[in-house]
Amino acid sequence: MTTLDPQQTTARLSSEDELRAHFPGLSPDMAALDGAAGTQVPLAVIDAVASALRTAMANLGGAFASSQVSTRVVAEARSAIADLVGGTPDGVVLGPNMTTLTFHFADALARAWGPGDEIVVTSLDHDANIRPWQLAADRVGATVRVAEFDIETGELPVAAVERVLGDRTRLVATTAASNAIGTRPDVRAISDAAHGAGALTFVDGVHATAHVPTDISALGADFYACSSYKFCGPHTGAVIADPGLLERLRPAKLIPSPDHGPARFERGTPPFELLAGVRAAVDWLAGLTDAPGDRRARLLASFTALESRLQELLERLVTGLAAIDGVRLLGRPRRRTSTVSFVVQGRTPSDVAADLAAHRIAVWAGDNYAYELMHRFGLAETGGAIRASIVLYNSADEIDRLIDAVAQLAHTV
Ligand SMILES: Cc1ncc(COP(=O)(O)O)c(C=O)c1O
Repeated sequence: MTTLDPQQTTARLSSEDELRAHFPGLSPDMAALDGAAGTQVPLAVIDAVASALRTAMANLGGAFASSQVSTRVVAEARSAIADLVGGTPDGVVLGPNMTTLTFHFADALARAWGPGDEIVVTSLDHDANIRPWQLAADRVGATVRVAEFDIETGELPVAAVERVLGDRTRLVATTAASNAIGTRPDVRAISDAAHGAGALTFVDGVHATAHVPTDISALGADFYACSSYKFCGPHTGAVIADPGLLERLRPAKLIPSPDHGPARFERGTPPFELLAGVRAAVDWLAGLTDAPGDRRARLLASFTALESRLQELLERLVTGLAAIDGVRLLGRPRRRTSTVSFVVQGRTPSDVAADLAAHRIAVWAGDNYAYELMHRFGLAETGGAIRASIVLYNSADEIDRLIDAVAQLAHTV
């Protein structure tokens, strides 16, 4: 394994050993194919968090230097997330994670809904982009309509969303990529349809943001959610929206807390040290290629390169698994991230995951909170599926190890 020069803070995607050396959480004998549930963290991020904790920082809004450091750290985190997704810093709401933020936005948006209004969710989504809307709609007497994905392909046709849109639709909540089977719906077309019906869109980008270049304007997303622990950062989340749209909402807040800007949606004192890590993660990701330009341009170059690398590895994984008798892959979406779910005939997913762990391969088993999706695949009662996900530090060798181990398990049923 390559040892990292402590002075070296950037890694290139083109040099796998060098890249992996940035992650102290990886070990050569453990295939970490669990990244969709959260990635390992590079040294640059660890150092930024530690260094923030070593620096004198105080709460926000003071006239003294340590308070000004915190103010700067928060501003830098907003600006980093804005560059990552193509938003503006004033539209970046920071929070503990996507789930908490989505509940919060559901509360704020539902203040304007009432009986007869309709909210559209999809069965492809993680429950964090379904249940907060369902519960908020229930509270105000609005109706939730579900756009169903196709269980043969695993795709979410735009027509499935159009079918449940109406002139009382207030919001369409859709994923940018399924955390279970990787499907990337045509979010732009879904947004256009939603806007045509006079509805807003809330796009769950938690899975997608780690895999592909993101441009929230191109997606037509009115709100876009992501979580930095999925893209090599610390455990925090963000929702990005147009600042003017944020200003029109009335979130539940304390009287003395800010009345304007994204801070109006942020509850209590932020985790300054983690926000320093968010900025470091985005800076680190921006350095994955030699591309010139500002951080936004470099991020787009990094994710373009990353997407094509991940697609190659995905092809290898899908081809290998599909060739094993007794393995059923869930869906075969044409546009997808490098995340697959499968079942092995005659074995429960948790058994398979335990056997793979014994082979030093980390994968998840269960529904992975894709609750409606597992129900639709008919797997909710039988323990869900096994999920393997490939992220930027995974290697072809790890994928081959997984395929070999699954083939052995399938043949010994
Ligand atoms: C697609 C997707 N949406 C939402 C979430 C929830 O994110 P968080 O843990 O930030 O609440 C996850 C987490 O796994 C996810 O993969």
